[in-house]
Amino acid sequence: MMKLSKSELQKKYKAFQKLRLNLDLTRGKPSEEQLNLSNSMLTNLSIARSYKSNGIDIRNYGEIDGLPEAKKLGAAFLGIKQSNVIVNGTSSLNLISAMMQTLFFRGNRDLPWKERKKVSIICPVPGFDRHFSLCEEMGINMINVPLTGNGPDMDKVEAIVKKDKSVRGIICVPKNSNPTGETYSGDVVKRLAKLPKLGNKDFMIFYDNAYAVHDFSKSKKLANIYRLCEKFKTANNISLFASTSKVTFAGSGIAFMGGSEKTLKNFLSFFSKTIVGSDKVNQARHINFLKDTKALKKHMENLGTLIKPKFDIVESYLAKLPKGIAEWSRPKGGYFVSFNAKPGKASKIYKLCFEAGLKLTPVGATFPYGIDPDDQNLRLSPTQVKNSDLKKSMEIFILAVLLSE
Ligand SMILES: Cc1ncc(COP(=O)(O)O)c(C=O)c1O
Repeated sequence: MMKLSKSELQKKYKAFQKLRLNLDLTRGKPSEEQLNLSNSMLTNLSIARSYKSNGIDIRNYGEIDGLPEAKKLGAAFLGIKQSNVIVNGTSSLNLISAMMQTLFFRGNRDLPWKERKKVSIICPVPGFDRHFSLCEEMGINMINVPLTGNGPDMDKVEAIVKKDKSVRGIICVPKNSNPTGETYSGDVVKRLAKLPKLGNKDFMIFYDNAYAVHDFSKSKKLANIYRLCEKFKTANNISLFASTSKVTFAGSGIAFMGGSEKTLKNFLSFFSKTIVGSDKVNQARHINFLKDTKALKKHMENLGTLIKPKFDIVESYLAKLPKGIAEWSRPKGGYFVSFNAKPGKASKIYKLCFEAGLKLTPVGATFPYGIDPDDQNLRLSPTQVKNSDLKKSMEIFILAVLLSE
């Protein structure tokens, strides 16, 4: 394909247009086959005929911080002690937003954010679009810092925290990041753990470990940030998040938050005004299904077997592009491939794909305020589509990249 002339490429592109395809690589959703692997969760409570967990009736109000066994599961995701975990709701994004609201209305051992003129948060880019839209919604000023392949550029992060007193935190995805797939190096994790010492007393690291257990190839091990925070006496400046959205059922999983005793107490003082208990029925289903870390590991391996071939397809098509035309990530886990075209080309590629029946995540979505300053980054989410559709999608995508030249 790479040796084709522009007119031959045009011809192939027009042929795709005629097919009136409706392909979609916009969001990192699990495929039906992935979801099917968790179907026993739909019946495991009725089969067990047990509605008690550790003596707690799962059908009633209470346990806003979650069932002990669910906390144990959360502890395995977050790499912290069970006593430092809260389990509530189905969405980690919801817990992140509740934590932001806590800081907004109650503060963290300092003035609430609502009493400050300006609150800024550092956003490693490219990143998760919903982190950015949430911050924008809450009126938080976002400051871009580039990712390096090993995590954020920490020289830049530290310089900003030292200089700009409006900075009250950083939001990051440390493992199999969305969309770059990178896992932060040991040095970056250590510097992140020390970071609050350079800034305001209420500095908060939002550590969204959404892809903590989601490796499909051998991936880099992530250092344990909470232990480092304890060592550097910054444990009150971090909140950790994860969920089973990409483990069991997306949107019907369970969500975890971790933090110091002080952080969790402060959070619950706010959160307990907004909800009476937690969904212990769903937690019990998850406890029955993901019995222990061995069962979790096995389940993630089974998911990985379904996911990896999709990423192999993406790579096999991108590898056909001539050298120097673009760069892209080769993730070992997570849900995304991050593609960097030459500056100024992403919008054109997006439009060409769209007009040939392939929807991509809008250009700019991976940056705060929806603005990619270099009009360069595109996110590919290959997990949900059938392999045959993924191949067609990638064919269109590389045609669009070539035609954008
Ligand atoms: C980094 C990151 N955090 C959070 C989420 C959403 O997780 P949840 O469904 O638990 O809100 C996603 C989903 O794509 C994500 O990529």
